[in-house]
Amino acid sequence: MSKKKIIQVPKGTYDILPQDQAYWDKIRKSAQDTAADFGFLRIDTPMIEEQELFARGIGLGTDIVEKEMYSFTTRGKDKLALRPEFTAGIARAFIEHGLFSIAQPLKLWSVGPIFRYEQPQAGRYRQSHQVDFEVFGSTDAVLDAQIIQVAFWFLKKIGLKDIILHINSIGCKDCRGLYRKALVDYYRRNAKKICADCKVRLKKNPLRVLDCKNEKCQEIIAQAPVMVDYLCDDCKEHFKETLDYLDELEISYYLDSHLVRGLDYYNRNVFEFFISQEGEGKKPLALGGGGRYDGLIKLLGGKETPAVGLALGVERIIGEMKKRGAKVPEKAAPEVFLLQLGVLAKRKGLKLYEELLRNKISVAESFSRDSIKAQLKLADKMQAKIALIFGQQEALDDTIIIREMDSGVQEIVPLSRAVKKLKKKLVRGK
Ligand code: HAM
Repeated sequence: MSKKKIIQVPKGTYDILPQDQAYWDKIRKSAQDTAADFGFLRIDTPMIEEQELFARGIGLGTDIVEKEMYSFTTRGKDKLALRPEFTAGIARAFIEHGLFSIAQPLKLWSVGPIFRYEQPQAGRYRQSHQVDFEVFGSTDAVLDAQIIQVAFWFLKKIGLKDIILHINSIGCKDCRGLYRKALVDYYRRNAKKICADCKVRLKKNPLRVLDCKNEKCQEIIAQAPVMVDYLCDDCKEHFKETLDYLDELEISYYLDSHLVRGLDYYNRNVFEFFISQEGEGKKPLALGGGGRYDGLIKLLGGKETPAVGLALGVERIIGEMKKRGAKVPEKAAPEVFLLQLGVLAKRKGLKLYEELLRNKISVAESFSRDSIKAQLKLADKMQAKIALIFGQQEALDDTIIIREMDSGVQEIVPLSRAVKKLKKKLVRGK
């Protein structure tokens, strides 16, 4: 017989095993608490959307849409894609359900998987997860500062400190046009010194040249004109106001004139959150990013609605939690471990287990084990306070043994009084 191929998880994806769930619980709980603290409402959108949504929203020339999207045509000939991020889907839902009629600004949040066909490496997956916060309905810079505050609040709840905030303003349509021209002129003058990719970027999406990692281009980037010098008065004022609010919040920031972000919907403030990495020459890791996107809702066919938001990468956060030994809640020990011997005890045990649960007694069992010794060992390992032993004789007599695990003291009680007796013992033991 030929050996069957062992099927493995697809490249760039992974299983979240039971031992890692405590980290995920902590992320979900902290996100939920942060959302409640700052008045965000939960929204869940599908993992599949029309390709057109991302092409229009994120931008056709972006790496995400051009190279990284999982796109497919369904049997019904619909052109769909797995979401590579949350913002475009949430914006679509905002328009589709007329959410602008709810009090503005409207704050929405979500958590779940995103899909990008990237080259997998440490901290980079094809299916990863984001916690996402969005605010719709106001251009006020106070909201840009607040959304940054939200990210810091959330990361602090998780137990991560030393977050480095990078911030820049990429202006509005008008002032960005002037800047783009200055940048392109400068790059043309230096055309011989730049990498091949930047030559393409210059034609398709000039601002992205500032993001180039190629060594050859670093010197050119360092001397390039900077966006803040080209901001119009309104954008300059908006940027300044944001920074003033951040000062007030005592959030320090690094003015990063090269920060442009890889999604086309942004205008004015863009920001990223980094955490330092141990080891010589190791670059800080981006935990999340976001910015303002005042034109997206209109671009998608809704009425003009300014917005600002951010997303944080769950895998990277969990990676840092592990590295830094962040505390995650351990599973609480059961109050009672129910042991049994023989078929009759097993039968009655199944029912008793439910009765204990109904009486809010936390309980564990190992019904498929037949050795009392092995079951006691497990009860001890799980640090149960009390062992309830249902032997063959007890099952016949409708009695049960209550044994205190610490002292080994035990007594036989009628089954009908077991719960009452247990409750008394557990209260005394607290
Ligand atoms: P983004 O910068 O593309 O922004 O993603 C945010 C974060 O998601 C990244 O900083 C990173 O931590 C995580 N992330 C992204 N791709 C991967 C991947 N392949 N593997 C692991 N982690 C990843 C956005 O997605 C925007 N939608 C943020 C936003 C919300 N802007 C406005 N509102």
